[in-house]
Amino acid sequence: MSKPIAGFSKLSKSKKIEWIVNTYFSDAHDARDILEQYWNSNEKLQQLHDEFIENTITNYYLPLGVAPNFLINGKLYTIPMAIEESSVVAAASKAAKFWLKRGGFKTQVISTTKIGQVHFIYNGDFEKLQVYFNHVKSKLIEDTEDISKNMKKRGGGILDIELRNKTQDIPNYYQLHASFETLNAMGANFINSCLEQFAKTFKTEALSFHLFSEEEKQMDVVMSILSNYVPDCLVRAEVSCKVEDLNEGHISGEAFAKKFVRAVRIAEVEPFRAVTHNKGVMNGIDAVVLATGNDFRAIEAGVHAYASRKGRYSSLTYAKVEDGIFKFWIEIPLALGTVGGLTGLHPLVKLALELLHNPSAKELMQIVAVAGLAQNFAALRSLTTTGIQQGHMKMHLMNILNQFEANDKEKEQLTDYFKDKTVTHSAVTKAIKQLRLKG
Ligand code: MEV
Repeated sequence: MSKPIAGFSKLSKSKKIEWIVNTYFSDAHDARDILEQYWNSNEKLQQLHDEFIENTITNYYLPLGVAPNFLINGKLYTIPMAIEESSVVAAASKAAKFWLKRGGFKTQVISTTKIGQVHFIYNGDFEKLQVYFNHVKSKLIEDTEDISKNMKKRGGGILDIELRNKTQDIPNYYQLHASFETLNAMGANFINSCLEQFAKTFKTEALSFHLFSEEEKQMDVVMSILSNYVPDCLVRAEVSCKVEDLNEGHISGEAFAKKFVRAVRIAEVEPFRAVTHNKGVMNGIDAVVLATGNDFRAIEAGVHAYASRKGRYSSLTYAKVEDGIFKFWIEIPLALGTVGGLTGLHPLVKLALELLHNPSAKELMQIVAVAGLAQNFAALRSLTTTGIQQGHMKMHLMNILNQFEANDKEKEQLTDYFKDKTVTHSAVTKAIKQLRLKG
């Protein structure tokens, strides 16, 4: 068993690696080689990555792919996607192509409000607290002037602060519940700085509030933090076409629409299906969120909370047929930024944003929602017709061949061989063994 190490973060990068490889690996040289293989030969670029986080020992690569032909509100986009799952980019591209011929995607930002809260404990009379809040509210906003003046100049800032009584849930628990407009920034740092200032002012001013008893003056701030639940930072994306335009040879438009709408309905009412259905949506969303340097954990947390807002986890997408028109849409909360964070630092993030015509945060919300809808469309289309494995395993073939360390010639021969056959792990194993026996 290894021993704990003191002061690890203070060691140089090479000393950190030395300790890691010697402590955990049977072949220290091999482990060091793998770590070093992923270093960037451009020292400045490597240093940039080293400094993103603490204790960096190497870089972790994900493929950055692109899905072209996305027509969104009449404008064409090629969408960058950072993801490891073999079939996701291919599925997005297929969905984009399908809808390109049917009018493309229509999107709309519904709202852009973000939320932050100061959670505190107050031992005293609620009415007095309400009077105190009304008295101190303008001072709370005034004291954040330095933090918010730039945001305000651009048209954003603090929208409102409410006092919320949560004592039914926890004795003496209250909140300052604040709303913000953060424009093109995701806004986490701005919101958290404002909240910490609110907390400071709220505590300090209470000490001299004339109506409070000595006990009531002692506001106990538990924490001040933004919420990643953003049900009022909403975007909608949709596709629609005549049912007959869904005709695709092997299945009539009517039959397809019926199956598709039913599949979405199942995800609406059945949480076990809804989670997987939404996972497919997030395949598209996370890939673009990651490629554009946004916080995919925040997006994931907020989206799944939204999917449960009615008390039961449900589908993020909806579908219907009305008057011969098939309509499929998503409504989803997305707090995204196109300035701040990694957006101006990571060269690939800058490149991804330029590829998207340097979008505003609102435009990015629309593009990301489209990627989620397209991914869900592609998944449901396969699931309700051919089944998912046909397309998925086709894309996964290369991974299996790489597990067998197939050379280029073997890859070419086997890709050709599996063109009209079902790919399974055992079928590939058999085919590669036979090929090698022959050779
Ligand atoms: C796989 O990554 C995603 C799917 O399972 C989504 C779905 O079932 O809708 C194919």
